[in-house]
Amino acid sequence: MSLDVAAGLLSCPHCRGTLEIGPATARCPEGHSFDVARQGYLNLLPGPQPMNADSAAMLEARSRVLGSLYADVVALVARSAADTGARVVVDAGAGTGQYLAAALDALPDAIGIATDVSVAAARRAASAHPRIASIAADTWRGLPIRDGAVDLVACIFAPRNVADFARVLAPDGHLVVVTPEPGHLRSLRASYRLLDLDPDKDARLEKSLGGLFELIASDRLARPVDATAAQVADVIAMGPNAFHGAPVTTSERLEIDVRCRTYRRLVPRV
Ligand SMILES: C[S@@+](CC[C@H](N)C(=O)[O-])C[C@H]1O[C@@H](n2cnc3c(N)ncnc32)[C@H](O)[C@@H]1O
Ligand SMILES: [Zn+2]
Repeated sequence: MSLDVAAGLLSCPHCRGTLEIGPATARCPEGHSFDVARQGYLNLLPGPQPMNADSAAMLEARSRVLGSLYADVVALVARSAADTGARVVVDAGAGTGQYLAAALDALPDAIGIATDVSVAAARRAASAHPRIASIAADTWRGLPIRDGAVDLVACIFAPRNVADFARVLAPDGHLVVVTPEPGHLRSLRASYRLLDLDPDKDARLEKSLGGLFELIASDRLARPVDATAAQVADVIAMGPNAFHGAPVTTSERLEIDVRCRTYRRLVPRV
């Protein structure tokens, strides 16, 4: 619970002025003010959260999965973050805040800003690590962060506003993106009729990053994991397409297959 760690880094979503963070409110020089929630996060959403924001139940399930079946994915992100040596890290669409917390454990001098459009996520991330400032904010409206104030943006299975990520990054800043490979959870998606992955994802990612970022590292993590029936149910429940069929009663071997890419921000020639 520490919004203070983000002092001087946040900007007002209305006028882009620097936000001064007090114990109960954050204010910009123009007089816009925002309440600090009792649970320690700052809500900068312009209205109610959108329908696609993760619910508290989804986050509960996701938290258990990240602590067990996805532990290696969390460790890979932490290593990739540590390799950048960042001092200020933003996790856009941070969910529970567990990835950012692991990254900060690997970067002892860094502070983290978790942003998510889900209020339940902002609440959880606020207590995920003492060096996390948690903000409810919509990535598509632009991060409420000052230009060039960040060394590393992480975006893990979450929406990517690439131009805005470039805006908040310092000239030599980094971007870490985690995406599912085509085989990720393939058997589970077939058995429970979950949403298919977008086959053009890679091409779209490359296109959106073109000119703004250069790829400097790419690690694939592909391995089977044995999931209990309860873990299978959690993997289904943590996604946006929670299966509404009979309860899961069988254990299953699942395929984890994800890619973690690190990019460096390209500085435009003048
Ligand atoms: C698949 S979850 C991934 C969460 C976390 N990064 C993880 O991997 O555990 C996608 C997250 O993006 C958030 N999200 C969806 N749309 C968003 C938006 N426009 N701005 C910020 N967060 C968003 C959801 O609320 C959810 O927490
Ligand atoms: Zn303002």
